[in-house]
Amino acid sequence: MHFSRILAVFTALTCASAGRLSPKTCVIPASGTNETDDAPAIISAFKRCGRGGKVVFKPTTYYVNSVMNISWLQDVDIDLRGNLLWSTDIHYWLNNSLEVGYQNQSTAWILGGDNVRINGHGVGTLDGNGDYWYEWIQEQENTSNYPGRPIALTLNGLTNSVVKGINFLRSQMWTMAIIYSHHVEFDSILVNNTGNRVDSSNTDGADTIRSSHISFNNLTVYNGDDSISFKANSTDITLTNSHFYNGLGVAIGSIGQLNDQFETVERIRVENVFYDNTLHAVYFKTWTDDQNGYPPNGGGGGLGYASNMLFKDLTATSMRGSAVAISQCTRFIGAPGDGNCTNSQFQIKDITVANLHGTTESERVTSFQCSAVAPCTNLGMFDIDLEFGNGTKAEEYLCGNVERPRGFECTGSVCEGGSSTGEC
Ligand SMILES: *[C@@H]1O[C@H](CO)[C@@H](O)[C@H](O)[C@H]1NC(C)=O
Ligand SMILES: *[C@@H]1O[C@H](CO)[C@@H](O)[C@H](O)[C@H]1NC(C)=O
Ligand SMILES: *[C@@H]1O[C@H](CO)[C@@H](O)[C@H](O)[C@H]1NC(C)=O
Ligand SMILES: *[C@@H]1O[C@H](CO)[C@@H](O)[C@H](O)[C@H]1NC(C)=O
Ligand SMILES: *[C@@H]1O[C@H](CO)[C@@H](O)[C@H](O)[C@H]1NC(C)=O
Ligand SMILES: *[C@@H]1O[C@H](CO)[C@@H](O)[C@H](O)[C@H]1NC(C)=O
Ligand SMILES: *[C@@H]1O[C@H](CO)[C@@H](O)[C@H](O)[C@H]1NC(C)=O
Ligand SMILES: *[C@@H]1O[C@H](CO)[C@@H](O)[C@H](O)[C@H]1NC(C)=O
Ligand SMILES: *[C@@H]1O[C@H](CO)[C@@H](O)[C@H](O)[C@H]1NC(C)=O
Ligand SMILES: *[C@@H]1O[C@H](CO)[C@@H](O)[C@H](O)[C@H]1NC(C)=O
Repeated sequence: MHFSRILAVFTALTCASAGRLSPKTCVIPASGTNETDDAPAIISAFKRCGRGGKVVFKPTTYYVNSVMNISWLQDVDIDLRGNLLWSTDIHYWLNNSLEVGYQNQSTAWILGGDNVRINGHGVGTLDGNGDYWYEWIQEQENTSNYPGRPIALTLNGLTNSVVKGINFLRSQMWTMAIIYSHHVEFDSILVNNTGNRVDSSNTDGADTIRSSHISFNNLTVYNGDDSISFKANSTDITLTNSHFYNGLGVAIGSIGQLNDQFETVERIRVENVFYDNTLHAVYFKTWTDDQNGYPPNGGGGGLGYASNMLFKDLTATSMRGSAVAISQCTRFIGAPGDGNCTNSQFQIKDITVANLHGTTESERVTSFQCSAVAPCTNLGMFDIDLEFGNGTKAEEYLCGNVERPRGFECTGSVCEGGSSTGEC
């Protein structure tokens, strides 16, 4: 009895001190050849060290030829100094990529859990080998939301976590989907989805869905689509000190895609963002009230609102379109007729843009094509100074169904048949 008590105390002590001094570490072996899939070794390391341990990717290339669903992490450090290179077996991915649970989208890698700390030290890279996808999608009549085309990384159910110092290179489709995640900090992430052979399509930098208390700081994105996009039920999001190149700027939406579903985007703060050659600084896109088809490419008829947002200290060079745009006219390509661009029940309200300056190629500072059913209210534009290369100021503020504008006057009416980007 005496002896067993001592043994019990001794065992408890060694376990506790082992846990404190050196958490269990798993260094993932790399096969070194793309003929051997490294995904099983990666999953195995997370199984052994993904709860209260540390998982290390060495500074080498890991070949990822199959899907990974690692959604059960708990209190883990992920040290990523290597390069993860995804295979280009398009038929494999179309058949096997994992459901995301949004818009019928799918993904190559799901990561989730509580208290996860991912650090790429500025060198760790997720390379989607997207050049193959960008060429292939052009051959599929440019159906960029092709069913089964995978999002590079989906953070699903990630809470109280930090993701920093990671590079994403040529994602297969969207780069990071962040869904059902709360209290997560993203810092110093670089996304370069510039295609080497053809332009990339549908390669958003980051997308938030049904997530809250998410911060992005020092995010850099080179792409041709949404630089970052806050979608259905994204609340309490901040984006600071970031740089966006060539893409479409900060997107709110598309939203209102699910018939009769109530969704919001609220309490968004964007500060100190630099844009180079983007189409917009900020743009909103909602589906019309007519439902045609199903996601990913069809939908419509959603309810809700986007509200309580501040965008301040924005600098642009060569903005390509209206700096701030609203289009409530997203609809299924090929829908009967042209659709009705003013019947959405989804409302946009209480939005402020302050201190937006720089150079533009468009006369239009705003293009607000709002719904007649739920007009835009309380939109504010303050300290706006956008100029052409020759120093002339851009001065058009086009509006449709805008009530109580603050800090600006509408100078004309917007055209209604706008595309999802708000341009006619
Ligand atoms: C391995 O890489 C070569 C050269 O890039 C490529 O042709 C081949 O299809 C790849 N194999 C696999 C299994 O990904
Ligand atoms: C999916 O897998 C099945 C069976 O292996 C195959 O016949 C089919 O062509 C694959 N589909 C795609 C889109 O690659
Ligand atoms: C991923 O794994 C989790 C936990 O095992 C499971 O609940 C979920 O359905 C899986 N997701 C997919 C798309 O297979
Ligand atoms: C897809 O788009 C590209 C670039 O705009 C174009 O060159 C190509 O012809 C399109 N492909 C098809 C099949 O329509
Ligand atoms: C911002 O992120 C980049 C990588 O995209 C990194 O090189 C740079 O050091 C970061 N800056 C700060 C201030 O952390
Ligand atoms: C992004 O990728 C393109 C195409 O490979 C390359 O030319 C460019 O230098 C890259 N940009 C950055 C910042 O790494
Ligand atoms: C969005 O959040 C609201 C609560 O604010 C909830 O009622 C609704 O079901 C959510 N919608 C979706 C599609 O998750
Ligand atoms: C996915 O697509 C199918 C068929 O197009 C549709 O029936 C289904 O409602 C869609 N699911 C979601 C979640 O949108
Ligand atoms: C579009 O919908 C609005 C709101 O319901 C309605 O007032 C308008 O007449 C419709 N326009 C067309 C062309 O049907
Ligand atoms: C400056 O450039 C704009 C856009 O090209 C043009 O509309 C405007 O007339 C130019 N102003 C002067 C003074 O040349």
